Parts: sequence; structure tokens; C-alpha cells
Amino acid sequence: MARLYLTTPIYYTNDAPHVGSAYTTVNADALARFHRLLGDEVLLLTGTDEHGQKVADTAAAHGMDPQSWVDQTSAKFEAAWRQLGISNDDFLRTTAPRHRATVQAFLQQIYDRGYIERGLYEGLYCVSCEDYYTADQLDEDRCPIHGRPVVEMAEENYFFKLSAFEEPLLAWYAANPTAIQPEAKRNEALSFIRSGLRDISITRTSIRWGVPVPWDDAHVFYVWYDALINYLTAIDYGRDPERFAHWWPSVHHLIGKEIVRFHCVWWPAMCMAAGIDPPAKVSVHGWLLTGGRKVSKTIAAEGETPLKLTDISLSGLVEDLGADALRYHLLRDTPLGPDGEFSAEAIDARYNADLANNLGNLAARVATVVGSKCGGIGPAPDPDSPLRTLAAEVVDEAVLAWRGFQPHHGLEATWRLIAAANARLEAVAPWKLEPGPEVDAVLGDALEVLRLVAILASPAMPTKCAELWGRLGLDGTPTDHPLFEVSGWGGYPGGLAVHKGDPLFPRRR
Ligand code: MSP
Repeated sequence: MARLYLTTPIYYTNDAPHVGSAYTTVNADALARFHRLLGDEVLLLTGTDEHGQKVADTAAAHGMDPQSWVDQTSAKFEAAWRQLGISNDDFLRTTAPRHRATVQAFLQQIYDRGYIERGLYEGLYCVSCEDYYTADQLDEDRCPIHGRPVVEMAEENYFFKLSAFEEPLLAWYAANPTAIQPEAKRNEALSFIRSGLRDISITRTSIRWGVPVPWDDAHVFYVWYDALINYLTAIDYGRDPERFAHWWPSVHHLIGKEIVRFHCVWWPAMCMAAGIDPPAKVSVHGWLLTGGRKVSKTIAAEGETPLKLTDISLSGLVEDLGADALRYHLLRDTPLGPDGEFSAEAIDARYNADLANNLGNLAARVATVVGSKCGGIGPAPDPDSPLRTLAAEVVDEAVLAWRGFQPHHGLEATWRLIAAANARLEAVAPWKLEPGPEVDAVLGDALEVLRLVAILASPAMPTKCAELWGRLGLDGTPTDHPLFEVSGWGGYPGGLAVHKGDPLFPRRR
């Protein structure tokens, strides 16, 4: 059985989740669900990144102690993911005792192996990124990502000897040429490594809100150093060697493009320093944009009107559209890789075209005609249906696409099958014919297509697909059996009571 340990980044708890955070999480969830459908063993991890200066500052600005603040904010992420139907197997909070213990054990290991030493750090720091910049990386003296002023920091602290890993990292990437997807992001990581790696400061004395350094309690770990280790905490690094070996290093990290350096340079080097293998795969996606700008929790340049998707309430959007329709839109309209513009117009256009018209209409029309011509009992499909070959091609194409982390392509293929079933219904027009074998064949084929679609689209729209499944008169759910057992043409048995019900996707605007 294949195995997939899939992770999202853990989200900063300075604010509630927004559509940008939902984009990563929904993609990870749908990919995990597709792999479960394939019969793979899956562990889906997400969580919240709760330490660091940004969170401490935000808590203070709200007159709260950091722990109460992160408790409240982390709960908003959990609630949002429940509302969106996210099927994570674990939710990791970096303030949890199990994480603190893992961070300390892992970094103690690196320290003992001689890759951490004391030094003086002086540099320019962006609190929003929780990251350092050199003067030439700044954009008119401001952080190139957030457009905010940077602060000068000078601290005596501990450094990770990243410079020792230039050669090992290059050798590892040469031996693992597909470890980072897409290729452009691999090249970005490689050119960063080739440009020369400097040691990085990994502890702080200026703040207390972090995991204490086990060998020197005047220091806490820098938030990124604590955060990356979440991927090990969840699989019991240092606590359960058997479980750890089961999931590591065959992990797959799904991340946004702004955190490539952390995941593709620092993190594999940290793993090497601790004596474990680097993560096997990192897939990098782009940003959702509004008006061409990144959707983010942090306000853009001061004084500028924020153009933020954060101003759109995620829960309001889910209430308006429904969780499954929002999931479908995120998966179908912004392929993993490039940036994509997020807009209300695009949501409505996609919803009306694919969900209300294409899928919704097929389901409603078939149920109506089964009612009027077949007494409400769905006929079996034609074994020699003209849709049979296309259905087999679509299943293969969808599997390849989802396996290749391209949900938009998997869904696009699936919708081609729906369109073909609709076109055939139009052409044969069973509503104009007398009941008989021709009517039975075209309706049975359409029911079979709906059965296959309920399975193939279930990773994107788990609730709606289960509902569709029930309306076809089928027992259980679309995900009860591994895909390859149920994806052959002819699985719809016929003789089942078909229910029309309310429209699955009522038209919008
Ligand atoms: N806490 C760090 C990650 C630590 S992982 C060990 C962090 N958090 S974050 O909340 O700022 O962002 C987490 C992820 O949210 C990003 O990598 C990205 O995947 C996603 N997104 C945040 N805004 C986004 C968009 N506008 N569009 C798409 N994804 C976005 O970085």
C-alpha cells in the first residue's frame, strides 16, 4: 500500500484564517482524500504556528497574554477547517507540550553534533515575515514582501551552521531531482544555495515567547526553528522510533512560494544536521491575489488602502457559497503552481457553469426523466455505451492528475465526462420518447456517469458527492471502496429508486 504523509504549513496565529490560508488547506485536504480513495495510507497534518514576535506583539496590542491569544486564534483555525470539511488526522499547535519536547530534543541533537554555536547577530528584521534581510534585499528600505519598515537587531545568540551544508544540499538535490516541484522553485532553491549559505541565528534573548533552549535558558528558539519541527512532532520523533520510521522521510510538504527557502534550504539542512533524511518532496504553490496583490493577514504599506482578501470573511464566504462549492472553486480555478486572481465574479461564473448547469442539471434532469419514464427506478447502464471509452479515459486522466498534485486538471477531466453525458441526453432527448430500451440505455448511462462523478469529485466536494450518491439510490458513500474496485463502467446496478430532491447547486445571481 502506498503511503502519503502530507503537510500544510502551520499558520501564524496573529489573526483568523483567510481565503489564502484556506487555499493551501483545501488543496492538501483534497489531495489527501484522493489518495485515501486510491487506497493509500494517508496522514494529513495541519496546525498553528503560535510563537514568535509577531504573535507576542499582536497579543499585547489586544491587551492579552500570548497564551490566551493563541488559544483563541488557534480555535478559529480549527473551527474554519471543520466548516470547510478538512479531514486532517492531526492538528498541531506549537505551544503543545509534545511539540516543545520535540523541538528541544531535535535541537539538542544538532547542538550535540556540533552544528550550533554562539555568536553575535546584527541585522535587519521584518517582524511580519519573522525573517532577516540584507540591505540590498530591501525595497526602498522596507520589507520586500510586506512593504513594512524593518528593525535593526543586535543580539548575542546561537547560530546554526547552515554554511556547512552547501555541498551536502547540492549533492542531495542532484540525487533527488524531483524533490521540489515545480522545477522553477527547485531552481530558486538551488541558486540560493549556490549563492553561498550564511550561518543563521536561531535563538533570541529579546523575547520570552518561544520554546526555551535546553542548554541555555536565557534563550528561546527563533520561531522558524521551532515551527519547521512540527512535521516531526506529529509523527513522534524521539518518542516512538517505529512510528517515526513509518512516516519519515516519505513526507510531502505543500507550501506557498514565499517559504521555499525555509523548507528547501534550512529544513533539509537541519534534518541532515540532526542525522535524519531530508523531506522527500516539497510542492510549491502560488498566491491568491486580489487586484494583483498577495492576500495576506498583514496590512500592506502604511497609509495604503489595504487590498486584502483578509477583509472578506472566510466563514461568511462558506455560508454564502457552501463549503463544497468554495472548495471546488479553489481547486478548479487556481492550479497549484502559478498565482491566481480571486474574485467574486470568477466564483459565480465557475459555480453557475460547472456546478449549477453542468453537474446540477445532469442530476436533476436524469432524476426527472427517470421519474416520468421509468417510474422513478433507475435503469442499468448500457454495457456498450458510447460513453464507456471516455469514462475509462477520464478515470485514468483524473488519477494521473491528482497523483501529480494537479487537482484542477483532475476536475477538468471529470467535468468533460459530465458534459458528454449532458450532450448525449440532449441528442437522444429521452423525455420525448416512449419508455423502452433506448430511454433506459441513455438514462442508465447518465446514472452511471453520475456515480463515477460522485466518486471522482468526492475529494473536492465530499458532502455534495455523498448527497448525490444517495439520490442515485446507492448505499453507503462514494468513498467506501478503493477507486480501482469501483471505477469500471457498469457499477451502477439499476433497479434503484432515484430521488430528485432540491437542486444540488441552486443557480447564483
Ligand atoms: N507560520 C509560517 C509557516 C511555518 S511552516 C513550518 C507561515 N504562516 S502563514 O500563516 O503566514 O502562511 C502559511 C501559508 O498560508 C503560506 O505558505 C501559504 O501556503 C498560505 N497562504 C497565505 N496567504 C496566501 C495567499 N494569499 N495565497 C495562497 N496561499 C497563501 O508562513
